[in-house]
Amino acid sequence: MSAEAVVEGEDRSAYAGVLRFYELAKHQEWMVRDVAWGQIPPVPEGKGSPERQARRRDVWRSVVMQQLQADVLACEMAAQLLNAAPDPEAKLYYSTMVQDESRHTEAWLRLTGEIGGTGERDPHLDTLAHMTLEADTLEEKVFQMQVFYERLIISRFRLIARSSRGTVLEDLCNRLTTDDGIHHGAGMAYEKVLLQNASKKTKQSLVDAANRLLPTFVEHALWRPKERAFIGRAMHARDIERLKEDLEIGVRLAQSLGLDVSEVQLPV
Ligand SMILES: [Fe+2]
Ligand SMILES: [Fe+2]
Repeated sequence: MSAEAVVEGEDRSAYAGVLRFYELAKHQEWMVRDVAWGQIPPVPEGKGSPERQARRRDVWRSVVMQQLQADVLACEMAAQLLNAAPDPEAKLYYSTMVQDESRHTEAWLRLTGEIGGTGERDPHLDTLAHMTLEADTLEEKVFQMQVFYERLIISRFRLIARSSRGTVLEDLCNRLTTDDGIHHGAGMAYEKVLLQNASKKTKQSLVDAANRLLPTFVEHALWRPKERAFIGRAMHARDIERLKEDLEIGVRLAQSLGLDVSEVQLPV
């Protein structure tokens, strides 16, 4: 379907940015079968005693589990956005995002199968996802999902990719960095249009929702499954630093969208 003239006879130039991301998303689409399954190791292979190797495998399994959990939730959110968005340009775009998140889930499930199954869920991530799914307005949903989470996940993917060179996990992280870059860009483009037409009350409720969500976001950022609890203790100072950086990025993004961030209460 052509992305031009989606609604005839109306000035829809404000949605040109969203349509650009729709074209980009179609262009960047990949298949789960494009990944070199079976030709390269699924995750980094451990050295040393069998116990040590098993422990390392547990750590990687927990890393993959967190991404699987996140993408299953992302499927739900993308499907909700596709249904909730009233604008045809946004619907076109979200149709690609639903496919992306489904493909991500399929890839994580396959990788999970290759490394011996799933692991512990991050309970705070479930809570955060439900807050976004139950948010009152589309402006809140797009802000939380695409402007905030999908921007922050990119640096996580880069981090995982750096420590898993030459594996399927690295390849997936690189692919998802591109995809989530598009998801974030599209969200920024759409949120700009939504906020241009939004009432003061809608904008205020977006900031209020962010303040309600932030304490849970902090718990999520500092949470680690039992396999990685020892890393969590060793990395606490670095985690706090990274969390602060993430929250500052969120505030800057809100500001760039013209939101009044003077009432945002950063929990750290
Ligand atoms: Fe995803
Ligand atoms: Fe995404």
